[in-house]
Amino acid sequence: MTRYDTLCEQLPQHPKRWLITGVAGFIGSNLLARLLTLGQQVTGLDNFSTGRQANLEEVRAEVGAAAWANFRFIEGDICDAATCLRACDGADYVLHQAALGSVSRSIEDPVRTNLNNVNGFLNMLVAARDAGVARFVYAASSSTYGDHPGLPKVEEVIGKPLSPYAVTKYVNELYAEVFARCYGMESIGLRYFNVFGRRQDPHGAYAAVIPQWVTAMIRNGELRINGDGQTSRDFCYIDNVVQANLLAATAGEEAVNQVYNVALNDRTSLNDLYAMMRELLVQRFPHLQEHRPSYVGFRAGDIRDSQADIGKARQRLGYAPTHRLRAGLEQAMSWYIDHLGSTACNT
Ligand SMILES: NC(=O)c1ccc[n+]([C@@H]2O[C@H](COP(=O)([O-])OP(=O)(O)OC[C@H]3O[C@@H](n4cnc5c(N)ncnc54)[C@H](O)[C@@H]3O)[C@@H](O)[C@H]2O)c1
Repeated sequence: MTRYDTLCEQLPQHPKRWLITGVAGFIGSNLLARLLTLGQQVTGLDNFSTGRQANLEEVRAEVGAAAWANFRFIEGDICDAATCLRACDGADYVLHQAALGSVSRSIEDPVRTNLNNVNGFLNMLVAARDAGVARFVYAASSSTYGDHPGLPKVEEVIGKPLSPYAVTKYVNELYAEVFARCYGMESIGLRYFNVFGRRQDPHGAYAAVIPQWVTAMIRNGELRINGDGQTSRDFCYIDNVVQANLLAATAGEEAVNQVYNVALNDRTSLNDLYAMMRELLVQRFPHLQEHRPSYVGFRAGDIRDSQADIGKARQRLGYAPTHRLRAGLEQAMSWYIDHLGSTACNT
């Protein structure tokens, strides 16, 4: 039995109060679904800048009325200090996910990214400190490895940031560390590596690669690969990320005030990812036999290769990923088929 199995057995017997920021987004809504299923009391904060009411509605339908009654939603912005304090009031644990994601968006609008990801983050840290929350877990990012070429990525060895987004995520880590030193706060940063799964937004200029590609494949649209397709990533299914958050919130004191990689320790090229996705979809969508990607230029701010060492999370948090890439893709695909189905090209 893993530490996560034990935790999932114990939590319903001793419910805690959780705050999830960014609760209407991809990762936040998946955290919400899991915690409500485990009988927890959850407050959620979101300003709907990239999150969607539809994500919350889906969670409501998934967990049922009784569990949903344990959820309180605050529509508000982490850039407002009073809202942060109100949201933190009474929380045992904070899972801070709210931020403006996307490397490209940050290159186009560094000021807005900084406002949400640095000022907003600092507001949340102060509010969590003042409300006396026991543990502050936050979404850090693999972008912090920047231009360091070493593989696999180990937490202690980082390079120079390659985008404004990466700067903001690194500043988060620095602030969390300083709040531990100056105020004795307990925090844990989770450096997510390319997360994917249900409810990840497939639309818009800043959509992540997997949801963007599933949409293009199902609709027989144009699918672009940035660069030569040999760019590689450690793609991580959402359930592994949910697990890491719950483990981090409840880990012993020896695990706190650290950052941890959250991924699989795999490395998959974009070409291999494309081939795997096509293979998983082709039976249902025969037009994919003829489908081919087009190759466009490399994207500014992107790193070439990425692969996480997950030894530290395994040892100190008891992290044991349940879904390898293929298993995660199978689940994610079926969600996208159901949700994009009405406009799919399945002739
Ligand atoms: N998805 C990934 O692969 C990945 C990788 C590394 C790190 N992260 C980090 O994980 C976190 C969650 O990402 P996601 O993929 O779920 O993105 P998402 O855009 O789906 O979710 C972010 C949520 O935060 C909300 N939000 C943004 N700014 C806010 C503000 N000022 N006040 C209140 N709410 C605000 C958005 O409306 C949205 O619901 C982010 O911090 C992101 O930087 C994600």
